[in-house]
Amino acid sequence: MKAQILDGKKVAEEVRAAIKKEVDEIKSKGGHIPGLAVVLVGENPASKVYVGQKEKKCKEVGFNSFLHKLPASTTEGELLKLIETLNNDKAVDGILVQLPLPQQIDSDKILKAIDPSKDVDGFHPMNMGYLVAGLPAVHPCTPKGIMYLLDAYGIEIEGKHAVVVGRSNIVGKPIAHLLLDRNATVTICHSRTKDLGAITRQADIIVAAVGRPRMITGSMVKEGAVVVDVGINRLEEGLVGDVDFETVGDVASWITPVPGGVGPLTIAMLLKNTLEAGRKSER
Ligand code: GUN
Repeated sequence: MKAQILDGKKVAEEVRAAIKKEVDEIKSKGGHIPGLAVVLVGENPASKVYVGQKEKKCKEVGFNSFLHKLPASTTEGELLKLIETLNNDKAVDGILVQLPLPQQIDSDKILKAIDPSKDVDGFHPMNMGYLVAGLPAVHPCTPKGIMYLLDAYGIEIEGKHAVVVGRSNIVGKPIAHLLLDRNATVTICHSRTKDLGAITRQADIIVAAVGRPRMITGSMVKEGAVVVDVGINRLEEGLVGDVDFETVGDVASWITPVPGGVGPLTIAMLLKNTLEAGRKSER
């Protein structure tokens, strides 16, 4: 093992401590306490874990947390109605609908129904558009967390070749634009990319967000590259990333562990987005 660890757990703790301090100040002045509504539809086990973590961290920093657990049989109309109620609720600054949704519900329709100013996930097409245009917007939590982590360790981005593996709306596309905005040269790879290794071997920074256990191996990584692993794959042996930590750790200069890398930053950025949305609603 040669690579140094990008310690997301530690950096996220610092972010949450700063947020808690701000909330304590708001409370001492009798100001508006940020409120996050989290909507969970159905029984997806991973979603239940994520939502539980979000609710816990929300309470720890002193936010108001409103959890809405709906049955898997919920109709699109019922969910749209709940979103309308939350859009109009002054105690709610942020609305997060946990994905994936059951198949009878059109996720795009739901995400579009959320008031863009309460869209703390940054998934509304308007916020995505602003991000692509390089305009101020709510940024999705995982990509925002990756940028925060790279900055926390002083990783240089300008002029570097960043290779993003994965093109999801949640991670791949937005992180590519955030890196581009910081003057990286960005390549996006995906399931149809030919000779992935030939491209990743050119990367100064690799962001792996594909959901395939240990897909990026040491032979695919250039000596000294920075490797960010967004994968959270639940195997019998435990949580495993998209990066083969053992072999990549021997060639990379910096690497994120799984767990304890990007994951904790995702929730910390959700809290940051909610705090910011709360501030805007006060104005
Ligand atoms: N499902 C997996 N990741 C996320 C996320 O960041 N936000 C929401 N709402 N759902 C998800």
